[in-house]
Amino acid sequence: MNDHHDPRLDGLTLEEKAALLSGRSGWDTAAIDHAGIPSIVLTDGPHGLRLHNPQASGFSFTDSLPATCFPTAAALGSSWDPDLLTAVGEALGRESRTAGVSVLLGPGVNIKRSPLCGRNFEYLSEDPVVSGVLGAALVAGVQSTGVGASVKHFAANNQETDRMTVSAEVDERTLREIYLAGFERVVKTAYPATIMAAYNKVNGVHAAQNPWLLTEILRKEWGFDGLVVSDWGAVLDPVAAVAAGLDLEMPATGGLSAAALVAAVRDGRLAESALDLAAGRLLHLIERTAGRGEPNPVADVDQHHVLARRAAAESAVLLKNDDAILPLNTGAGTIAVLGEFARTPRYQGAGSSRVNAIRVDSALDALTEAAGDRIRFAAGFTLTGDEGETLIAEAVAVAGAADVAVVFLGLPEDVESEGFDRDRIDLPEAQIKLLEAVSEVTSEIVVVLANGGIVQTTGWDHLAKAILEGWLNGQAGGGAIADLLLGVVNPSGRLAETIPLRLEHNPAHLNFPGSDGTVRYGERLYVGYRYYDTKRIDVAYPFGHGLSYTTFAYSGLAVVAEGEGQDTVVRVSVEVTNTGTVAGKEVVQIYVGDIACTVDRPVRELKAFAKVDLAAGESTVVEVALDARDLSYYSIAAGTWVVEPGDFEIAVGASSRDLRLTEVVSVQAPPVAAKLTLDSSVSTWLAHPEGGPLLQRIGAGRVSALSDPVVLRMVEEIPLNRLIAMSGGRLASPELDAFLTRS
Ligand code: BGC
Repeated sequence: MNDHHDPRLDGLTLEEKAALLSGRSGWDTAAIDHAGIPSIVLTDGPHGLRLHNPQASGFSFTDSLPATCFPTAAALGSSWDPDLLTAVGEALGRESRTAGVSVLLGPGVNIKRSPLCGRNFEYLSEDPVVSGVLGAALVAGVQSTGVGASVKHFAANNQETDRMTVSAEVDERTLREIYLAGFERVVKTAYPATIMAAYNKVNGVHAAQNPWLLTEILRKEWGFDGLVVSDWGAVLDPVAAVAAGLDLEMPATGGLSAAALVAAVRDGRLAESALDLAAGRLLHLIERTAGRGEPNPVADVDQHHVLARRAAAESAVLLKNDDAILPLNTGAGTIAVLGEFARTPRYQGAGSSRVNAIRVDSALDALTEAAGDRIRFAAGFTLTGDEGETLIAEAVAVAGAADVAVVFLGLPEDVESEGFDRDRIDLPEAQIKLLEAVSEVTSEIVVVLANGGIVQTTGWDHLAKAILEGWLNGQAGGGAIADLLLGVVNPSGRLAETIPLRLEHNPAHLNFPGSDGTVRYGERLYVGYRYYDTKRIDVAYPFGHGLSYTTFAYSGLAVVAEGEGQDTVVRVSVEVTNTGTVAGKEVVQIYVGDIACTVDRPVRELKAFAKVDLAAGESTVVEVALDARDLSYYSIAAGTWVVEPGDFEIAVGASSRDLRLTEVVSVQAPPVAAKLTLDSSVSTWLAHPEGGPLLQRIGAGRVSALSDPVVLRMVEEIPLNRLIAMSGGRLASPELDAFLTRS
């Protein structure tokens, strides 16, 4: 929307326009009856509707109206299945519309920078392509019902410590390539109705009051035409926020913000046109979300429960499966089901995303329903984490008498939540003790995990033959786990976040969560696997990893580059065959590495992926077209994305560490010419297509250093102005001056 006169605002006073720009209550906008402007409702959250219960007294995260609790983003991100996220989005949209909600506050596409972030369960991945593709798919689903999505938290909101005050100090290249890229993809491909500005500062400026983020990048560069809403309570200075490009401050401030805006317009500190622009965007949002989508939306919550079960099953990651201990479909033998989480599932995270689930299935009930007489249960530990020798002894007795032990472990609710970060990533000691005790009586052990952020497997991994990472998987997760354990469903989730051998290996470790109000993203682009793979550090389970009950073979990789520079297209095709005996899904991952680049880049980066469903023996060809952006880095010098000429490695595989086929492709592009100044080094000058020959010409016969290779090697890091001085001015030349003025 341009900065022009908006006739829809003609009948409104300045006070009324200002009133539109902050909430009427915690969850809705102001109405202006005489102008026919209705109030609209915005509510959480990413994996289920958290609609404030009108009967509730006061503020509460838990007292909301019942809604389907879908798997959290940590789970959905591990599905690597955009169609699934669209289906979940549609269901969320239907429940929203049925409840009269116009904007659903999600998805969260922040990067999982450190496993310690308390909100990682609400985020999709450590990788911007996974976050962006899946985030866009969810937005498309929600918005197909006429409900608007709110992509959050823009931007660099990667921790909870000091979340309302901390300044994320991130260099621009890292922001562009890692932390903004997911948002950019969602904005450009799914046209979200709203973006939520984060609490934190980015390089010193509050995200909700940050003109560079909200206006320069989001609107001018990416073409976002929706509304920017603040995170709840993120605005400190409403005038600065509107001037920066924020449209709606939430929640209500009792009229304080409107009064501040009116005063600022009256005394000339804020242009009325800025306020009009924001008010116009709110009207646009109201129009955009009013009555579109399905004419009479019906939320069939039974069907949504079925979808939630499918989503949970698609999201679980089979980390290991020695001796093919899973699936437990032998038809005979007893199964010891151990761990309180089997009976009392941990299926969602705490904070604003908390849903009052319509119903909750436990794995114990689902397993009992499927294999009743074979199931023996013992709690093994309590949810409060208290030590329980008796509970462990009971579990050991049950395990000793069974053919296999399935041990349900995970994180207690009070260690991960919105609002604070974790300080460790290991499982509670009582649970590890249980596992150790059980391993004394049986080696047939399957561990099922329930956690939002990753947990360290080092130290106990060897005690389990199989590990099934179930995540916080929503109200139907228990049934999904039973389906996976019994082989009714073949696991197909893949890690969207690396599990390091230990926390200290994480690249952000020495810079998390910062101090003195600042967190420095010192690891730069090297987030997650970009770091582990470039540094060749062993990990417990790599990014993209996940096993299946079948096997897949890759063949016939073909890579062809067409066009050049910004028009380059690299066509990749590869055949994938299900070589096992059961149907299954493979996630084909395509990584790109720039072999000869002039700047430092991660050794490989995921650029595309496809989840394919294959019957036993079936093959399919996966085809992907990579564009120039997929080959580029963000050049600070050029102020834009740059694709360099030369060889790129295209690797196709089942994880960032399980690359099955690679091809090198040569890309045509103009050489990257540095901007030359007198301060540029001699080597930079010599490498420049015009500056190099010029310097050679001027230097010939005047400065021997330029023609003697041995001396040249020694002086090439010297800035040209120093060489000119040291040459007693012999290198100074009007030709050089003219060149510098020109370029
Ligand atoms: C959270 C947002 C949420 C909002 C409304 C904030 O504290 O950061 O994610 O949407 O509250 O509940």
